[in-house]
Amino acid sequence: MTIALSREATTRHTRRHLLSSADLDRAQVREILDTAAEMHGVQQREVKKLPTLRGRTVVNLFFEDSTRTRSSFEIAGKWLSADVINISGKGSSTSKGESLRDTVLTVAAMGVDALVIRHHASGAAQQVSQWVDAHVVNAGDGTHEHPTQALLDAYTMERRLGDLEGRHVAIVGDLTHSRVVRSNLITLRTLGVRVTLVAPPTLMPSGIGPWAAAEGFALSNDFDAVLPTVDAVMMLRVQRERMSGGFFPTPREYTVGYGLTRPRLDVLMAANPDAVICHPGPMNRGLEISPDAADAAASLVLDQVSAGVAVRMSVLYHLLAGGEGEDS
Ligand code: NCD
Repeated sequence: MTIALSREATTRHTRRHLLSSADLDRAQVREILDTAAEMHGVQQREVKKLPTLRGRTVVNLFFEDSTRTRSSFEIAGKWLSADVINISGKGSSTSKGESLRDTVLTVAAMGVDALVIRHHASGAAQQVSQWVDAHVVNAGDGTHEHPTQALLDAYTMERRLGDLEGRHVAIVGDLTHSRVVRSNLITLRTLGVRVTLVAPPTLMPSGIGPWAAAEGFALSNDFDAVLPTVDAVMMLRVQRERMSGGFFPTPREYTVGYGLTRPRLDVLMAANPDAVICHPGPMNRGLEISPDAADAAASLVLDQVSAGVAVRMSVLYHLLAGGEGEDS
């Protein structure tokens, strides 16, 4: 059985790689989200298989830990009938000293159609795309970007809130170490969303002021002032594994200033009963988000995970099958 894709989705020019959220203009984001909505229907079926990518091979090459992203790319590929192989840094020859280039060329030499890569170095996906003929999808490169996360976040918020244009989204937390924030900022601005970034001064990326001024998003160190004005609040994980020094005095002080605590959840819901809560996961419960907020009716955390499969199906479809022969 084939999925009924819109004519536009099958005929429009699509990009060869997805390396950055900036690769996608508004029409392309729209196209991916619309196809994802069609793919989402597959998730509800008993038999979750489309023949779309039969005979294609997708390799997930993950040099950093992952639960959601890797498994959702794997499920997405499998539901589209691609052959999917997972290679992780730990179990591969990189632990014997092989370079990224040699590992990637080795994998590509086997005849791979798409490489989904997560790597601790910012710019790794871009670099890999210059070495191979396969389509490359950036599944997170260091503190740089994570474009499919931004797409699935937009998809999830849109399903609950409707059109996101003119809505106000606050992205809160460890902005300095987050690749999710950069991709989300780009995709949300592409969709006409009003964005405020909230963080303690120590976790506000240096030099962000001019970017904020040029791109038209706001910065704040005062979560309590921003909270009652938002339609969605996206909490980011405190990425202790990327921190080399003390970015806040104690976890308790971080939570007091920037955690989505029970009292803040009440403030948010009183100000806007339709407001929603997102978190890309994994969550540090009790640090950046309280269990009350993580499990609230307003929380979209599990909807984000579910959307992750549909959005990644859509991305693989557009790269590998959509607009065939129109690669840039
Ligand atoms: C994020 C990541 O790995 O960048 N998680 C994810 O992909 N769902 C965010 C994080 O690690 O905090």
